[in-house]
Amino acid sequence: MARRLTSARTSTGLHSAPERSTADWWRTAVVYQVYLRSFADSNGDGIGDLAGLRSRLPYLSWLGVDALWINPHYPSGGADGGYDIVDYRAVDPDYGDVADLEALVTDARRLGLRVILDVVPNHTSDRHAWFQAALADPECAEASRYHFAPPSEEPPNNWRSLFGGPAWSRTPDGRWYLHLFAPEQPDLNWRDPAVAADFDATLRFWLDRGVSGFRVDVAYGLFKDAGLRDNPGSYSPTLFGHGPEQAMTWNQPEVHDVWRRWRAICDEYPDTMLVGEVCLADLAEVALYSRPDEMHQSFSFRLLKSRWDVEAFADGVQSALDAFGSVGAPVSWVLGNHDKDRQVSRFGGGAVGTARARAAALLMLSLPGSPYLYAGDELGLPQAVVPDEAKLDPIFWRSGGERTGRDGCRVPMPWNAEDGVGFSPDGAADPWLPIPADWERYAVSDQARDGGSMLTLYRRALALRAAHPALGSGDATVTTDGDVLTVHCTGDDETVRCVLNMGSGTVLVRSSGTVLLASTTRVRSSAGSIALPPNSAVWITED
Ligand code: GLC
Ligand code: CA
Repeated sequence: MARRLTSARTSTGLHSAPERSTADWWRTAVVYQVYLRSFADSNGDGIGDLAGLRSRLPYLSWLGVDALWINPHYPSGGADGGYDIVDYRAVDPDYGDVADLEALVTDARRLGLRVILDVVPNHTSDRHAWFQAALADPECAEASRYHFAPPSEEPPNNWRSLFGGPAWSRTPDGRWYLHLFAPEQPDLNWRDPAVAADFDATLRFWLDRGVSGFRVDVAYGLFKDAGLRDNPGSYSPTLFGHGPEQAMTWNQPEVHDVWRRWRAICDEYPDTMLVGEVCLADLAEVALYSRPDEMHQSFSFRLLKSRWDVEAFADGVQSALDAFGSVGAPVSWVLGNHDKDRQVSRFGGGAVGTARARAAALLMLSLPGSPYLYAGDELGLPQAVVPDEAKLDPIFWRSGGERTGRDGCRVPMPWNAEDGVGFSPDGAADPWLPIPADWERYAVSDQARDGGSMLTLYRRALALRAAHPALGSGDATVTTDGDVLTVHCTGDDETVRCVLNMGSGTVLVRSSGTVLLASTTRVRSSAGSIALPPNSAVWITED
């Protein structure tokens, strides 16, 4: 495992952390996912924006993360939270302009933070100039950059949209076109070389502006079976984990050439990286996307999808270590993102869910590799209840309300316990998604002052992770004993144990070591043992 190279961190704002410069920074980087629309609104229109994010960079530096990944900032049709892009080399006016993005990158670098953008190569918006041209003229060059089929009674095959319903819709002139997501997200045809060439230009456009890489949306997509054959199995409505039943739509072998091509472009720019969203059931297949000449990382979603269960968690950790280890890639650990219910709610809600989320954070931050923190998880935000009429997620609308959708994890951040939580300036328009009335209690302002808060726990954990290379860049050995999961993190100088009690009773952990950090104040040490309450975790360093 590569040893982590850290620079000294100090505790406050703008003049602190010098930028880490090491070619392998991404192997152990803590990446903070910014849901741009919900992070901070600078101009009072109720929508988070780049200037707002820029004003909050000192917070991210203070928290102790290494990089931020920003959800799509491009002009968009607004059909899928920005994942329907109209222009890949511009900024949506809601968020600012290209100069704002450059200023963000500059300020971030000054604070030692890198900026990673989201890029969406599987599909464009239906409002993209290419698709508009293709609608107007079936014979134009742009038409072959999508998947069109001639008019017929039935769609060309049985493929289904991940958001519900068939994956084919009709154009006004009766042709079919393919969209594996919403109808407003037509799939690109990557067998047309013009598509690849255009994405090369997009990558360079942003890399030339100093960004440190890209999170690649639906990286297991792009190519589809050339014969458009039916998928063999029925489709199960989940966003993650496709297998052989979807063999014709995902994970076609040609896609790996795209990642080699993108890797070669990134390699021209020092210290840049690619992380892929690869939602395949077989983790060994996911890891193939992170071979040394492909993407630097592909997300491991196992913990994100695991219920609170010791075997599930142990397997989630071990299978990822094995799969990514076999290709020499670090594991990118994920416990929350903009597509999944918030951890606190997933783990049972209330005090129990919060205790579990605190413990899970210590587990994730101990593991070797690159953890991804989703904005608001450091505040312990629960899944917000969004009234149906305020919902925007196409998953909710396309399923006729049967599936709840993802709005509840995309609600704006509470910054201040006063002033209507401080997401927008005084007198602003309503936030784009309603913020629950009691969310002042999660505000950064109060949590930053509270030694027992979730925010303080994250900040301490990140500082310790930076100070103890065994955490985050050691070698990990995973064991279980009853409901207790232990990870032995072995660095050059020390071993730190992360012990997680997932059961319902207190357990005694034999140790004469020192507790570096505990997820609860209810941990008790006495001669030779540590009493660990249910739903808690500790980091112990042996003396
Ligand atoms: C990815 C994104 C998700 C989006 C989908 C389609 O899964 O994370 O938010 O809806 O791709 O672009
Ligand atoms: Ca705004």
